Amino acid sequence: IPNQDISTRLLAWFDQYGRHDLPWQHPRTPYRVWLSEIMLQQTQVSVVTAYFQRFVDALPNLPALANARQDKVLALWSGLGYYARARNLHAAAKLCVEHHNGDLPHELAALIALPGIGRSTAGAILSQAWNTPAPILDGNVKRVLCRVFGIEGWPGTPAIEKQLWTLAESLLPDARQADWTQAQMDFGATLCTRHNPACPQCPLQMLCVAWRDGRSNALPTPKPG
Ligand code: ADE
Ligand code: SF4
Repeated sequence: IPNQDISTRLLAWFDQYGRHDLPWQHPRTPYRVWLSEIMLQQTQVSVVTAYFQRFVDALPNLPALANARQDKVLALWSGLGYYARARNLHAAAKLCVEHHNGDLPHELAALIALPGIGRSTAGAILSQAWNTPAPILDGNVKRVLCRVFGIEGWPGTPAIEKQLWTLAESLLPDARQADWTQAQMDFGATLCTRHNPACPQCPLQMLCVAWRDGRSNALPTPKPG
């Protein structure tokens, strides 16, 4: 499959059907991108938006977060659950003040070294905050890649996951890195959904192996056992 076709088609789809009015997109600062990605790790967009707004109204930038008391940070998080995310966020902000002049680091390895930031979240931050080419691989992206490329086997398997990272890297477009990340998220969340994907409306249909083989609902392979 010509990989450039996939990003070109998905970006055109995103221009028409993607989400362009999320609160962290306006303004899109590295701090706001980071905060939104941590909130979105285990919580849906529809729930996150109000919590995000309340949080940035109280703590609008990274130094404000670093200097806040932990009880205030946890109070702003209350309702979102998974409070380890809030504690990691707070600890990471303090580390950024100590080691990175109060900014988020711009390098993948330095981002991953911060508490609460894994490889996919780091890619989402790099691409959206600075338009740096960096792949993401969350559950939505794994599902889409398994279908489009007809990859069999549970995507949680280390070998499959490694294959998926390589594919995700190979699909990066030459420009529009932030849009590319959001396009993949929106496509997986609204069109190539877990159950009954909207294949008849899909801009990737003509190059999708799962569609060709009538296996859109069978992929990705469920977790064994
Ligand atoms: N999940 C993780 N990051 C996201 C984003 N930027 N938009 C929508 N869903 C997401
Ligand atoms: Fe997903 Fe269906 Fe599109 Fe394939 S054709 S990418 S399975 S929505």
